[in-house]
Amino acid sequence: MRLEHCHNFHDFRKLAKRRLPRPIFDYIEGAADDEATFRRNTVSFEACDLIPTVLAGVAEIDMSVTVMGQKLDMPVYCSPTAIQRLFHHEGERAVAAAAEKHGTMFGVSTLGTASLQEVRKHKGPQIYQFFFHKDRGLNQSMMQEAKRVGVDVMMLTVDSITGGNRERDKRSGFAIPFHLTLGSLVQFAIKPMWGINYLTHEKFSLPQLDGHVDMGAGAMSISRYFTEMLDPSMDWKDVEEMVKLWDGQFCLKGIMSVADARKAVDIGCSGIVVSNHGGRQLDGSRSPFDQLAEIVDAVGDKIDVLMDGGVQRGTHVLKALSLGAKAVGIGRFYLYPLAVAGQAGVERALDLMKLEIARDMRLMGCKSIARLSRENLRFR
Ligand SMILES: Cc1cc2nc3c(=O)[nH]c(=O)nc-3n(C[C@H](O)[C@H](O)[C@H](O)COP(=O)(O)O)c2cc1C
Repeated sequence: MRLEHCHNFHDFRKLAKRRLPRPIFDYIEGAADDEATFRRNTVSFEACDLIPTVLAGVAEIDMSVTVMGQKLDMPVYCSPTAIQRLFHHEGERAVAAAAEKHGTMFGVSTLGTASLQEVRKHKGPQIYQFFFHKDRGLNQSMMQEAKRVGVDVMMLTVDSITGGNRERDKRSGFAIPFHLTLGSLVQFAIKPMWGINYLTHEKFSLPQLDGHVDMGAGAMSISRYFTEMLDPSMDWKDVEEMVKLWDGQFCLKGIMSVADARKAVDIGCSGIVVSNHGGRQLDGSRSPFDQLAEIVDAVGDKIDVLMDGGVQRGTHVLKALSLGAKAVGIGRFYLYPLAVAGQAGVERALDLMKLEIARDMRLMGCKSIARLSRENLRFR
């Protein structure tokens, strides 16, 4: 199976599973506890059906959207994800380049393996995904750097106040730096191409944290980073100050309750992402699609409501937009293609998504995203 044989999410997933050492594949796919929320995220899209209209003159369609002041050629963006260099040596650069080609937005994680400055070379709206540290000086200097390089949207992740319980990683010993079990070492040994690729390209690093956290020498691991460096006392007051300091587009990622969505409006955020971190944090929490309508009804006229989690199809995107989301984020949908073929993989995945959305809009009798509404949907 090769890249050109990948026609959907499942094909990319299958190929990534073949190419990646099992502990790395499991780090991407895995979620918290029993992974119930992770599964529900995708299944929830089946709770409703689309109602098409016909004879609507759909020769020309426009799928562009404007979200948090950013014009996107498609209503899907690449949500920020950590340590992409481990999945493919092109890492964040590949995702930034593919997003630029498709005229959409992409996020760089605090745990990104390319610097904000480097990916800023690519045109197109750039998000900086921010983790809030105990060290307020570090927070300020990270914000200053983001301002300096011209990040368009500051996105603070608020659902990761502590690390999720990822049991697949515990079993394999997946950690940065690696602490692999014997069984996991065998999994790396039987996928030598990954190892060759990893060792023959530039060294793994976390440039956003350079000078602040020493991961290289093994002094700090990612799980210790979450428990020791991030600040569990973070509250609305802290975030309000951050919003003021940033003085630009500011978004909270991981909002799930109406009360919190209202608070985000009150402190001056321009967007929220209804998200449960792809099921990787609180297992048993509701799926973003199930929770979307409630939040849109409460604050949709005051703030841009985005969502991510479980999106695998153009029809998933159309359902979320019909409920009132302004744009939809993808995670694993572009990570498996990244693992399979770097930039070419992410480009193909976004291409397929764009084609699906265009086809589905035509079949729905819908010329522009603004025409989508709850009239298009029936819950079972
Ligand atoms: C491997 C992986 C790493 C992630 N790293 C981060 C991160 O560093 N910061 C963050 O806010 N979200 C992170 N996420 C969550 C994504 O931004 C997004 O919310 C989630 O992947 C959406 O679900 P989906 O993968 O089903 O599309 C990560 C997700 C995955 C799969």
